[in-house]
Amino acid sequence: MKITIIGTGYVGLVTGACLAVRGHQVTCIDKKRDIVEKINNMQAPIYEPGLEKILKEVVASGRLAAGNDLKNSVLASEVSIITVGTPFGDGVIDLSSIENSAREIGEALREKHDFHIVCVKSTVVPTTTDTLVKNILRAASGKEPGEFGLAMNPEFLREGKAVEDFMYPDRIVIGADDERSFAGMRKVYDGFLDVPIIQVNIRTAEMIKYVANALLASLISFSNEAASICEATGGVDIKEVLAAVTLDKRFNPRIGNKLADPEMNQYLQAGCGFGGSCFPKDVKALISFSMEKGYLPRIMASTLTVNQEQPLRLVGRLEKKLGTFENKKIAVLGLAFKPGTDDIRESPSITIITKLLEKKAQVFGVDPVATRNMESVIPQAFPNVLYTTDYKIALQNADAVILATSWPDFIKIAPEEYLQLMKYPLVVDGRRVLDKKSLEKAGCIYLGVGLV
Ligand code: UGA
Repeated sequence: MKITIIGTGYVGLVTGACLAVRGHQVTCIDKKRDIVEKINNMQAPIYEPGLEKILKEVVASGRLAAGNDLKNSVLASEVSIITVGTPFGDGVIDLSSIENSAREIGEALREKHDFHIVCVKSTVVPTTTDTLVKNILRAASGKEPGEFGLAMNPEFLREGKAVEDFMYPDRIVIGADDERSFAGMRKVYDGFLDVPIIQVNIRTAEMIKYVANALLASLISFSNEAASICEATGGVDIKEVLAAVTLDKRFNPRIGNKLADPEMNQYLQAGCGFGGSCFPKDVKALISFSMEKGYLPRIMASTLTVNQEQPLRLVGRLEKKLGTFENKKIAVLGLAFKPGTDDIRESPSITIITKLLEKKAQVFGVDPVATRNMESVIPQAFPNVLYTTDYKIALQNADAVILATSWPDFIKIAPEEYLQLMKYPLVVDGRRVLDKKSLEKAGCIYLGVGLV
């Protein structure tokens, strides 16, 4: 099939490249010339494992090209997939990029005789596609739905694993209100074997995406809340509690004699909170949408409150241990919102560093790939806040270290290194990934989420 992708962020580019791998002819449209140039030069404009490799393959074979001529690409293709950003600001989701894309596609459709499907993949609140997008397409094309197809096909891509998630999805959700659009979208995913295809109406497809993210975010906050209760109790370790709780076969079914240990259980681990471009934004957007419709979601609102407080609780506990942060050097291991990405959007490390600076600490942030991005949010200022990719520099003479992102290299730091390098070997485990026993045996002081 010939497919146009509009917007080449991490969702658009991964979608385009993976669909090209599956044999489609893809054109990726972006207004930014430098991004278009990079893609055509086989360079990934974003850091996403595996992306550059497949990009090289599909650009070299001519199955994917980037450009900025949306109209001609729509005229020459059978499906347009909208993957532009939907940021959340001022209490509502910003749909201006979606509106512009729909308008431009509609204007192109005015001149098109063949059937063309417009598919929204960007995360949009329920009813956006079958009201706003549909109406813009109608007005701009002068055509009625049926003369063009309309679909909503949410993405479930984790940053850092987006290529793998796209190529081997758990499910493919196709929202449409007519059989011709369903059929066209099924053809897009023809090459994906043994994957359940869920066909629902358009607004259900939109809702599935939000509820999926809200569920995962709520599980994290649930675990973090349980962790706080353990801290208040004393002598109870959240890790032991959750390890036993998740043995319930409804979380952890047995396959033969083995436990399946589903990845879902990862979301039931306590830590310093979730971040990223999706969970915080999507939960906020769903709450605001729901309130507009007259229902106040309480669990989801609390999910956000617990999450905002989580990194601050950790800083508070550290402050109690140290007495004061003034003139104290604190190393923060991990700036990215999770390992495997350079993305720092809504990262708990931002909250941690901001609070430490407010309390007059000297901060040394460490990350293998995210220091530059962090610098654009909290600029370096000697001697108050500095960034490095080398944890040894950050640990040198530090009064405490907070592990905020569980990058494998940080988990591997030997207890002896903390002892040798730091002024005071106080190790704060914000992800509960370090071995408390061996740290304490070596002489470090351990402080972990959900354990006092
Ligand atoms: C998330 C979803 O997992 C994807 O299914 C979804 O498609 C994507 O959002 C999206 O809407 O586009 P992502 O934001 O890349 O993907 O990240 P996750 O791997 O799910 O992690 C989210 C946050 O939760 C991270 O900050 C991570 O550190 C945190 N987390 C995760 C915890 O705090 N505790 C955990 O136990 C697990």
